[in-house]
Amino acid sequence: MTNSDRKNNIFETGGVFANRELVRVGHVPELDRIIGRDDEVTAIGQALGPATVGGPPETTIIYGKTGTGKSLVTRCVTQEAHQEAKSNDVSFQYAYVDCSDYQTDAKASREMARELVQHLEADVDVPRVGIAASDYRDIVWDLLDEFAVDALVVILDEIDKLDDDELLRSLSRARESGKSSTHVGAICVSNKIEYRDRLNQRIDSSLQDNELVFDPYDAGQLRHILEDRTDAFEAGVLDTDVIPKVAALAAKEHGDARKAIDTLYEAGRLAEKEGAETVTVDHVDDAVQQAEINRFEKLLSGTTPHVKHILHALALLTANNPPQEAFRTHRIYKLYVTLAESEGADPLSEDRVYRLLKEQSFLGITESKHTGGGQSEGSYLEHRLLRSPDIVVEALNISDTP
Ligand SMILES: Nc1ncnc2c1ncn2[C@@H]1O[C@H](COP(=O)(O)OP(=O)(O)OP(=O)(O)O)[C@@H](O)[C@H]1O
Ligand SMILES: [Mg+2]
Repeated sequence: MTNSDRKNNIFETGGVFANRELVRVGHVPELDRIIGRDDEVTAIGQALGPATVGGPPETTIIYGKTGTGKSLVTRCVTQEAHQEAKSNDVSFQYAYVDCSDYQTDAKASREMARELVQHLEADVDVPRVGIAASDYRDIVWDLLDEFAVDALVVILDEIDKLDDDELLRSLSRARESGKSSTHVGAICVSNKIEYRDRLNQRIDSSLQDNELVFDPYDAGQLRHILEDRTDAFEAGVLDTDVIPKVAALAAKEHGDARKAIDTLYEAGRLAEKEGAETVTVDHVDDAVQQAEINRFEKLLSGTTPHVKHILHALALLTANNPPQEAFRTHRIYKLYVTLAESEGADPLSEDRVYRLLKEQSFLGITESKHTGGGQSEGSYLEHRLLRSPDIVVEALNISDTP
């Protein structure tokens, strides 16, 4: 093999993907490729509608679980409103702020200013540091004035990550406080439903009227979303039952489009790695299992070796007994001692192991329940593994290797 052959070989990608961008998470489809969100698109459209003809936008709050299309729909409809306004000779501007990247009032306000500068192609320098949040907002008010902007909509995505409400408050009062003559509105997005109470307590109650909830996708919608991305794959490579399977699994587990797309991508990657000619449902199963191992491994990475030995013991017991069986602390403890000693570790006391098991039930890895024994026995605690023992053992193996 010559050097250049080898070079070609190591970058060989196989014949599975035609355009893998389409199944990568960052890909944002156009408004007309958004599936199953017509009501939500219309509701946001109605909130922004007045601003496309020079009136005030309505501030809206959007809730919904992760991967239900909140960010996507919000961005697409806002962009569309910008175009619509343009055709009406109205200046409708927007700024998108992902609050998980900009968690303080100053950082989020700076990002808002930076976005607006960019959209207006203004020749203004937004200082990186050294000025207060309100100074960043003053830059925004000045820009709105200078460019005679009719309406501004600020998307505060992941707003629950923002450490205070000052930005939202100043946006909702911009006009009445005389800071700006532009109509200013916000779209607040959160996947934490508990945030609703927090927000309601602190912010003007009029906001509560404009609440929109995005439900998880059902299997039919997920199928549609995935089918719309089949051009990511070479023609004929996807077995016909692959997408229905991914959609069914995703609908049952979470209804999260992002995760479903990711599973499809991972199944394709596994097929590619194997040099297979088609992507099959087996690749889907493997992809789902691999994703769970990865998630679990991440969870375990923050725990001590003792917790790992305890979980290992529980996983072995679970694997060797009827499914769903729960085990008493003492039984787990005995196996734990053997495992810990075989690794050269000094075992903890049974009482300590008992408490660690109770803690794991907080993490959702195990479930601990009091069970009444016979009269003479009193009640005792039983522990059950909530994940498949194969996955736990596999993840433990990986996290053991340095
Ligand atoms: N209706 C849809 N049609 C097509 N693709 C979709 C749709 N909904 C979601 N997606 C895909 O799933 C990805 C995740 O959606 P999005 O980022 O909007 O979720 P989210 O609700 O904002 O989740 P999070 O709360 O985690 O931020 C999008 O980038 C897009 O690729
Ligand atoms: Mg989002």
